Amino acid sequence: MKIRKAVITAAGLGTRVLPASKAMPKEMIPIVDKPAIQYIVEECVKTGITDILIILSRGKHVVEDHFDRSPDLEKRLSESGKDDVLKEMINIAHMANLTYVRQQEQLGLGHAVLCAENFVGDEPFAVLYGDDVIIGEDPAIAQLCRAYDRYEKGIVGIREVPTEDVMRYSSMKVEKLDDTCYGISDMIEKPKPEQIFSNYSILGRCVLPPEIFGILKTIPKGANNELQLTDAMKILANSEGMIGVDFTGNRYDMGNKLGILKAAIDIGLSRPDLKDELAQYIKLKAEELG
Ligand code: UTP
Repeated sequence: MKIRKAVITAAGLGTRVLPASKAMPKEMIPIVDKPAIQYIVEECVKTGITDILIILSRGKHVVEDHFDRSPDLEKRLSESGKDDVLKEMINIAHMANLTYVRQQEQLGLGHAVLCAENFVGDEPFAVLYGDDVIIGEDPAIAQLCRAYDRYEKGIVGIREVPTEDVMRYSSMKVEKLDDTCYGISDMIEKPKPEQIFSNYSILGRCVLPPEIFGILKTIPKGANNELQLTDAMKILANSEGMIGVDFTGNRYDMGNKLGILKAAIDIGLSRPDLKDELAQYIKLKAEELG
Protein backbone atom coordinates (compact mmCIF):
# COMPACT_ATOMS: atom_id res chain seq x y z
CA MET A 1 0.00 0.00 0.00
CA LYS A 2 1.33 3.40 -0.99
CA ILE A 3 -0.36 5.43 1.77
CA ARG A 4 1.70 5.58 4.98
CA LYS A 5 0.43 8.74 6.66
CA ALA A 6 -2.93 9.94 7.90
CA VAL A 7 -4.20 13.30 9.11
CA ILE A 8 -7.17 13.44 11.46
CA THR A 9 -8.79 16.87 11.66
CA ALA A 10 -10.14 17.56 15.12
CA ALA A 11 -9.76 21.31 15.62
CA GLY A 12 -13.30 22.46 14.84
CA LEU A 13 -15.48 24.31 17.33
CA GLY A 14 -18.32 21.80 17.20
CA THR A 15 -21.05 24.40 17.56
CA ARG A 16 -23.76 21.93 16.51
CA VAL A 17 -23.26 19.79 19.60
CA LEU A 18 -22.98 22.50 22.24
CA PRO A 19 -22.92 22.43 25.22
CA ALA A 20 -21.24 18.97 25.04
CA SER A 21 -18.39 20.53 23.05
CA LYS A 22 -17.99 23.64 25.21
CA ALA A 23 -15.08 22.38 27.30
CA MET A 24 -14.60 18.91 25.76
CA PRO A 25 -13.75 18.30 22.08
CA LYS A 26 -16.64 16.69 20.21
CA GLU A 27 -14.11 14.13 18.95
CA MET A 28 -13.87 12.89 22.56
CA ILE A 29 -17.62 12.27 22.89
CA PRO A 30 -17.84 8.56 23.77
CA ILE A 31 -19.69 5.95 21.78
CA VAL A 32 -20.55 3.48 24.55
CA ASP A 33 -17.13 3.42 26.26
CA LYS A 34 -14.65 4.75 23.69
CA PRO A 35 -14.15 8.30 22.47
CA ALA A 36 -15.09 8.85 18.82
CA ILE A 37 -11.52 9.65 17.81
CA GLN A 38 -10.24 6.29 19.09
CA TYR A 39 -12.50 4.48 16.60
CA ILE A 40 -10.93 6.64 13.88
CA VAL A 41 -7.35 5.93 14.98
CA GLU A 42 -8.26 2.21 15.09
CA GLU A 43 -9.59 2.47 11.51
CA CYS A 44 -6.16 3.78 10.42
CA VAL A 45 -4.30 1.07 12.33
CA LYS A 46 -6.46 -1.71 10.83
CA THR A 47 -5.65 -0.24 7.41
CA GLY A 48 -1.93 -0.41 8.13
CA ILE A 49 -1.37 3.32 8.61
CA THR A 50 0.52 4.02 11.81
CA ASP A 51 1.93 7.52 11.25
CA ILE A 52 -0.93 9.76 12.27
CA LEU A 53 -1.11 13.52 12.77
CA ILE A 54 -4.06 14.87 14.75
CA ILE A 55 -4.93 18.52 14.17
CA LEU A 56 -6.05 20.06 17.46
CA SER A 57 -6.91 23.49 18.81
CA ARG A 58 -6.99 25.33 22.12
CA GLY A 59 -8.40 23.23 24.97
CA LYS A 60 -8.14 19.92 23.11
CA HIS A 61 -5.13 18.54 25.00
CA VAL A 62 -7.37 15.79 26.46
CA VAL A 63 -7.03 14.08 23.08
CA GLU A 64 -3.26 13.88 23.66
CA ASP A 65 -3.83 12.68 27.23
CA HIS A 66 -6.15 9.95 26.00
CA PHE A 67 -3.47 8.45 23.75
CA ASP A 68 -0.72 8.82 26.38
CA ARG A 69 0.35 6.46 29.18
CA SER A 70 -1.39 7.05 32.51
CA PRO A 71 0.98 5.83 35.29
CA ASP A 72 -1.37 6.46 38.26
CA LEU A 73 -4.29 4.72 36.63
CA GLU A 74 -2.09 1.84 35.45
CA LYS A 75 -0.66 1.37 38.97
CA ARG A 76 -4.15 1.24 40.46
CA LEU A 77 -5.40 -1.24 37.85
CA SER A 78 -2.34 -3.42 38.38
CA GLU A 79 -2.75 -3.39 42.19
CA SER A 80 -6.39 -4.35 41.93
CA GLY A 81 -5.66 -7.19 39.49
CA LYS A 82 -7.67 -5.70 36.61
CA ASP A 83 -5.16 -7.02 34.09
CA ASP A 84 -7.43 -6.98 31.03
CA VAL A 85 -8.35 -3.32 31.48
CA LEU A 86 -4.71 -2.50 32.26
CA LYS A 87 -3.60 -4.13 29.02
CA GLU A 88 -6.27 -2.27 27.08
CA MET A 89 -5.16 1.08 28.60
CA ILE A 90 -1.50 0.47 27.74
CA ASN A 91 -2.42 -0.62 24.21
CA ILE A 92 -4.19 2.70 23.58
CA ALA A 93 -0.88 4.48 24.11
CA HIS A 94 0.97 2.17 21.72
CA MET A 95 -1.57 1.85 18.94
CA ALA A 96 0.15 4.19 16.52
CA ASN A 97 2.84 6.78 16.10
CA LEU A 98 0.76 9.84 16.94
CA THR A 99 1.81 13.45 16.62
CA TYR A 100 -0.16 16.63 17.12
CA VAL A 101 -0.24 20.11 15.71
CA ARG A 102 -2.37 23.08 16.67
CA GLN A 103 -4.57 24.96 14.25
CA GLN A 104 -4.42 28.36 15.88
CA GLU A 105 -7.60 29.77 14.36
CA GLN A 106 -10.58 27.79 13.12
CA LEU A 107 -10.43 28.99 9.53
CA GLY A 108 -11.98 25.86 8.02
CA LEU A 109 -11.22 22.26 7.07
CA GLY A 110 -8.93 23.34 4.20
CA HIS A 111 -6.88 25.42 6.63
CA ALA A 112 -6.75 22.50 9.09
CA VAL A 113 -5.35 20.23 6.35
CA LEU A 114 -2.80 22.91 5.45
CA CYS A 115 -1.47 22.62 9.02
CA ALA A 116 -0.32 19.07 8.09
CA GLU A 117 2.06 20.17 5.33
CA ASN A 118 5.32 19.58 7.24
CA PHE A 119 4.17 16.21 8.55
CA VAL A 120 3.05 14.99 5.12
CA GLY A 121 6.02 16.18 3.03
CA ASP A 122 5.97 15.00 -0.56
CA GLU A 123 3.76 11.92 -0.53
CA PRO A 124 0.05 11.11 -0.83
CA PHE A 125 -1.82 10.94 2.48
CA ALA A 126 -5.15 10.03 4.01
CA VAL A 127 -7.51 12.54 5.64
CA LEU A 128 -10.12 11.46 8.18
CA TYR A 129 -12.58 13.95 9.69
CA GLY A 130 -12.38 13.55 13.45
CA ASP A 131 -16.13 13.63 13.98
CA ASP A 132 -17.04 11.07 11.29
CA VAL A 133 -16.96 7.57 12.72
CA ILE A 134 -17.32 4.77 10.17
CA ILE A 135 -17.72 1.21 11.39
CA GLY A 136 -17.44 -1.78 9.08
CA GLU A 137 -15.62 -5.04 8.41
CA ASP A 138 -13.49 -3.40 5.73
CA PRO A 139 -12.17 -0.06 7.11
CA ALA A 140 -13.46 2.86 5.00
CA ILE A 141 -10.02 4.43 4.65
CA ALA A 142 -8.60 1.06 3.49
CA GLN A 143 -11.16 1.06 0.67
CA LEU A 144 -9.96 4.53 -0.39
CA CYS A 145 -6.27 3.56 -0.10
CA ARG A 146 -6.85 0.57 -2.39
CA ALA A 147 -8.52 2.89 -4.92
CA TYR A 148 -5.46 5.17 -4.70
CA ASP A 149 -3.13 2.21 -5.39
CA ARG A 150 -5.23 1.41 -8.45
CA TYR A 151 -5.86 4.87 -9.92
CA GLU A 152 -3.06 7.05 -8.43
CA LYS A 153 -5.44 10.02 -8.27
CA GLY A 154 -7.02 11.95 -5.42
CA ILE A 155 -9.77 9.84 -3.82
CA VAL A 156 -12.87 10.90 -1.92
CA GLY A 157 -15.25 8.75 0.11
CA ILE A 158 -18.75 9.37 -1.22
CA ARG A 159 -22.33 8.30 -0.50
CA GLU A 160 -25.72 9.17 -1.95
CA VAL A 161 -27.52 11.31 0.63
CA PRO A 162 -30.89 13.13 0.73
CA THR A 163 -31.00 16.51 -1.05
CA GLU A 164 -31.15 18.50 2.20
CA ASP A 165 -27.87 16.84 3.25
CA VAL A 166 -26.26 17.53 -0.16
CA MET A 167 -26.96 21.22 0.46
CA ARG A 168 -25.25 21.02 3.87
CA TYR A 169 -22.28 18.95 2.61
CA SER A 170 -21.19 18.89 -1.04
CA SER A 171 -22.24 17.60 -4.46
CA MET A 172 -20.13 15.54 -6.90
CA LYS A 173 -20.28 15.36 -10.70
CA VAL A 174 -19.88 11.61 -11.14
CA GLU A 175 -19.42 9.05 -13.88
CA LYS A 176 -19.68 5.38 -12.88
CA LEU A 177 -16.50 3.35 -13.42
CA ASP A 178 -17.37 0.07 -11.67
CA ASP A 179 -19.43 -1.24 -8.72
CA THR A 180 -17.93 1.13 -6.17
CA CYS A 181 -15.77 3.68 -8.02
CA TYR A 182 -16.82 6.84 -9.84
CA GLY A 183 -14.82 9.33 -11.88
CA ILE A 184 -15.29 12.86 -10.50
CA SER A 185 -14.76 15.82 -12.81
CA ASP A 186 -16.33 18.57 -10.69
CA MET A 187 -17.70 19.25 -7.22
CA ILE A 188 -19.19 22.04 -5.15
CA GLU A 189 -19.34 22.72 -1.40
CA LYS A 190 -22.76 23.53 0.13
CA PRO A 191 -24.58 23.88 -3.25
CA LYS A 192 -27.82 25.78 -3.81
CA PRO A 193 -30.55 23.54 -5.33
CA GLU A 194 -29.78 24.71 -8.90
CA GLN A 195 -26.05 23.94 -8.42
CA ILE A 196 -26.46 20.28 -7.43
CA PHE A 197 -24.60 17.86 -9.78
CA SER A 198 -25.78 14.69 -8.04
CA ASN A 199 -26.76 13.47 -4.58
CA TYR A 200 -23.28 12.03 -4.04
CA SER A 201 -21.53 13.91 -1.23
CA ILE A 202 -18.10 13.58 0.33
CA LEU A 203 -18.40 11.96 3.74
CA GLY A 204 -15.46 12.16 6.07
CA ARG A 205 -12.59 10.45 4.22
CA CYS A 206 -10.16 11.28 1.41
CA VAL A 207 -6.73 10.41 0.07
CA LEU A 208 -4.90 13.39 -1.38
CA PRO A 209 -1.74 14.06 -3.35
CA PRO A 210 0.71 16.56 -1.76
CA GLU A 211 -0.13 19.04 -4.56
CA ILE A 212 -3.24 19.89 -2.51
CA PHE A 213 -1.12 22.12 -0.25
CA GLY A 214 -0.06 24.40 -3.12
CA ILE A 215 -3.71 24.67 -4.20
CA LEU A 216 -4.92 25.43 -0.66
CA LYS A 217 -2.43 28.32 -0.49
CA THR A 218 -3.85 29.99 -3.59
CA ILE A 219 -7.64 29.63 -3.29
CA PRO A 220 -9.83 32.24 -1.57
CA LYS A 221 -12.11 31.54 1.37
CA GLY A 222 -15.33 29.82 0.33
CA ALA A 223 -18.66 28.86 1.95
CA ASN A 224 -19.11 30.19 5.52
CA ASN A 225 -16.07 32.39 4.93
CA GLU A 226 -13.84 29.33 5.63
CA LEU A 227 -10.98 27.84 3.61
CA GLN A 228 -12.81 24.84 2.16
CA LEU A 229 -11.03 21.58 1.34
CA THR A 230 -13.72 20.88 -1.28
CA ASP A 231 -12.78 24.07 -3.17
CA ALA A 232 -9.18 22.84 -3.42
CA MET A 233 -10.28 19.33 -4.46
CA LYS A 234 -12.53 20.87 -7.12
CA ILE A 235 -9.39 22.24 -8.81
CA LEU A 236 -7.85 18.74 -8.77
CA ALA A 237 -11.11 17.23 -10.08
CA ASN A 238 -11.29 19.81 -12.91
CA SER A 239 -7.67 19.29 -13.99
CA GLU A 240 -6.62 15.66 -13.53
CA GLY A 241 -9.90 14.19 -12.22
CA MET A 242 -10.55 12.49 -8.90
CA ILE A 243 -12.08 9.15 -7.96
CA GLY A 244 -15.08 8.72 -5.67
CA VAL A 245 -15.40 5.50 -3.68
CA ASP A 246 -18.90 4.59 -2.54
CA PHE A 247 -17.57 2.98 0.64
CA THR A 248 -19.22 0.34 2.80
CA GLY A 249 -19.71 0.71 6.55
CA ASN A 250 -22.07 2.52 8.90
CA ARG A 251 -21.28 6.20 9.26
CA TYR A 252 -22.06 8.24 12.36
CA ASP A 253 -21.78 12.02 12.32
CA MET A 254 -20.57 12.82 15.84
CA GLY A 255 -20.86 16.53 15.08
CA ASN A 256 -24.65 16.08 15.08
CA LYS A 257 -26.86 15.22 18.06
CA LEU A 258 -28.88 12.53 16.25
CA GLY A 259 -25.66 10.97 14.95
CA ILE A 260 -24.38 10.62 18.52
CA LEU A 261 -27.58 8.84 19.61
CA LYS A 262 -27.60 6.48 16.59
CA ALA A 263 -23.96 5.56 17.20
CA ALA A 264 -24.65 4.71 20.85
CA ILE A 265 -27.57 2.44 19.92
CA ASP A 266 -25.89 0.61 17.01
CA ILE A 267 -22.55 0.08 18.69
CA GLY A 268 -24.23 -0.79 21.99
CA LEU A 269 -26.22 -3.47 20.13
CA SER A 270 -23.01 -4.87 18.63
CA ARG A 271 -21.39 -5.41 22.07
CA PRO A 272 -21.91 -8.93 23.45
CA ASP A 273 -21.94 -7.65 27.06
CA LEU A 274 -24.66 -5.05 26.39
CA LYS A 275 -26.64 -6.39 23.46
CA ASP A 276 -29.39 -8.34 25.23
CA GLU A 277 -30.27 -5.80 27.91
CA LEU A 278 -30.10 -2.90 25.48
CA ALA A 279 -32.32 -4.71 22.96
CA GLN A 280 -34.85 -5.41 25.71
CA TYR A 281 -34.86 -1.74 26.69
CA ILE A 282 -35.26 -0.57 23.08
CA LYS A 283 -38.20 -2.97 22.55
CA LEU A 284 -39.84 -1.64 25.69
CA LYS A 285 -39.42 1.94 24.49
CA ALA A 286 -40.73 1.02 21.02
CA GLU A 287 -43.89 -0.42 22.62
CA GLU A 288 -44.35 2.73 24.68
CA LEU A 289 -44.00 4.83 21.53
CA GLY A 290 -46.57 2.63 19.76
P1 UTP B 1 -17.14 20.50 10.74
O1 UTP B 1 -17.59 21.58 9.85
O2 UTP B 1 -18.08 19.36 11.01
O3 UTP B 1 -16.64 21.01 12.15
O4 UTP B 1 -15.74 19.98 10.19
P2 UTP B 1 -17.03 22.21 13.06
O5 UTP B 1 -16.64 23.50 12.46
O6 UTP B 1 -16.43 21.84 14.38
O7 UTP B 1 -18.63 22.03 13.16
P3 UTP B 1 -19.81 23.00 13.63
O8 UTP B 1 -20.50 23.32 12.34
O9 UTP B 1 -19.23 24.17 14.37
O10 UTP B 1 -20.65 22.13 14.53
C1 UTP B 1 -15.38 18.62 9.92
C2 UTP B 1 -14.10 18.24 10.64
O11 UTP B 1 -13.08 19.21 10.41
C3 UTP B 1 -12.56 19.70 11.62
C4 UTP B 1 -13.62 19.41 12.67
O12 UTP B 1 -13.03 19.23 13.95
C5 UTP B 1 -14.28 18.15 12.16
O13 UTP B 1 -13.60 17.00 12.60
N1 UTP B 1 -12.24 21.15 11.48
C6 UTP B 1 -13.17 22.02 11.01
C7 UTP B 1 -10.98 21.59 11.84
O14 UTP B 1 -10.11 20.80 12.25
N2 UTP B 1 -10.70 22.92 11.72
C8 UTP B 1 -11.61 23.84 11.26
O15 UTP B 1 -11.28 25.05 11.18
C9 UTP B 1 -12.88 23.36 10.89
